[in-house]
Amino acid sequence: MGVDRDRWGQEVTAADPAAVERLDGAILAYCGMRTDIGERMKSVFEADPEMPMALVAKTAFLKLFATAKMDAAAATTLEALQARLADGEATARERAHAASMARWIAGDMEAACRGWEAIAIEWPRDLFALKLAQYLRFYLGDADGMRGGIARALYAWDEETPGYGYLAGSYAFALEEAGAYEEAERFGRRAVALDAADVWAAHAVAHVMEMQGRAEEGLAWLDGLSGGWDGVHNFKHHAHWHRALFALDLGRLDQALAIYDADVWTEAAGDYLDLSNAASLLWRLEQEGVDVGERWTPIADLSAERVGEHALVFATCHFAMALAADDRRDDLDRLEAAQDAHVGGAADAFAQVWGAVGRALVAAIEAARAGAPGEAVDLLLPVRERIVRLGGSHAQRDVFERLLLEAALADGRVSLARALLSERLQRRPGERYAESRLAALPGA
Ligand SMILES: [Fe+2]
Repeated sequence: MGVDRDRWGQEVTAADPAAVERLDGAILAYCGMRTDIGERMKSVFEADPEMPMALVAKTAFLKLFATAKMDAAAATTLEALQARLADGEATARERAHAASMARWIAGDMEAACRGWEAIAIEWPRDLFALKLAQYLRFYLGDADGMRGGIARALYAWDEETPGYGYLAGSYAFALEEAGAYEEAERFGRRAVALDAADVWAAHAVAHVMEMQGRAEEGLAWLDGLSGGWDGVHNFKHHAHWHRALFALDLGRLDQALAIYDADVWTEAAGDYLDLSNAASLLWRLEQEGVDVGERWTPIADLSAERVGEHALVFATCHFAMALAADDRRDDLDRLEAAQDAHVGGAADAFAQVWGAVGRALVAAIEAARAGAPGEAVDLLLPVRERIVRLGGSHAQRDVFERLLLEAALADGRVSLARALLSERLQRRPGERYAESRLAALPGA
């Protein structure tokens, strides 16, 4: 057992320098959202089955699936990590990673995130800590937190630092969510110039274009890059979801549906983000009057299997959309009962967000679908400002904004609809969707 240095100059405990080198590659593959992360991890463990940072990474990769099954495997891996740390040498950074991981496994996303942010303050080149903190801030609905986390580390990086593009792309996304669009686009475009296959950076720039109503340009941007995403894992479905949103923004409903069939819901799709993409897009297509045929059925089938999971309220709300759209009342009842019964620890993020907003949102989804739009409005209005706590991006949460607006329209609440449209058009001047609703209002 010895201490080596990784390619960022940080001390790493490993039995074999090859394990360090390979783990660096696995972390970069994670940042690049590549399909070969698992293969790379296997080769790390061949070189050192008990390497602390590799056990940290494995636990995180399992946890990122956000499923009950993988959560169980993550908990087992964490135990192996803790046993390894109890018996042998490890650096302060490795021990701090393990402590953050334990908090995450316990459901305390905020404390886990603070732990990784503290690591990145001491070791600002710890790309893995920076990325995990970003992931958790994202699902905590904290855009300024995402932005600050990376901004605090940037002084220690330059373009020669390995993985600089991934940091720049992550910063671009954080800036976009925090509303700093010009700076976001600059960092995102630089990252893509460094690596055209950097899908997260490409996606950050697409978010800027989505928020600024640059749909034609956004579609062309992603179309021009999508040919390089062969080695990208399921996240590419989400990037294609953005292509479909641009098509929808342009009023090209057939194209949006074609993108759904070809690239958003594919043979390989099925994880929580795939299900969320699918539910969110089908819902919007139906709001535009598109007949989506039987497309809800497989989404609802898979959602029904996950009603008892407590990983991300964001995902659970999308499962509920699919179940409501496919008229699965029993499954929705099971979902609500399972989540209401979930108490969790005192700092359990899921339980807190479910209570603060998830429960009302799911009830609103159900009411809207059951032909009770007035009830949906009454459920949503009081929690509207808390929807951000679900996490996800502005573009993703927009489906819930649209739900409120459509329910107000369906319930004949003209003043409310006009007010919501006024607010929306201040944020998205000239948006086709909002303009079309405004034109249809009585007296318009
Ligand atoms: Fe996105």
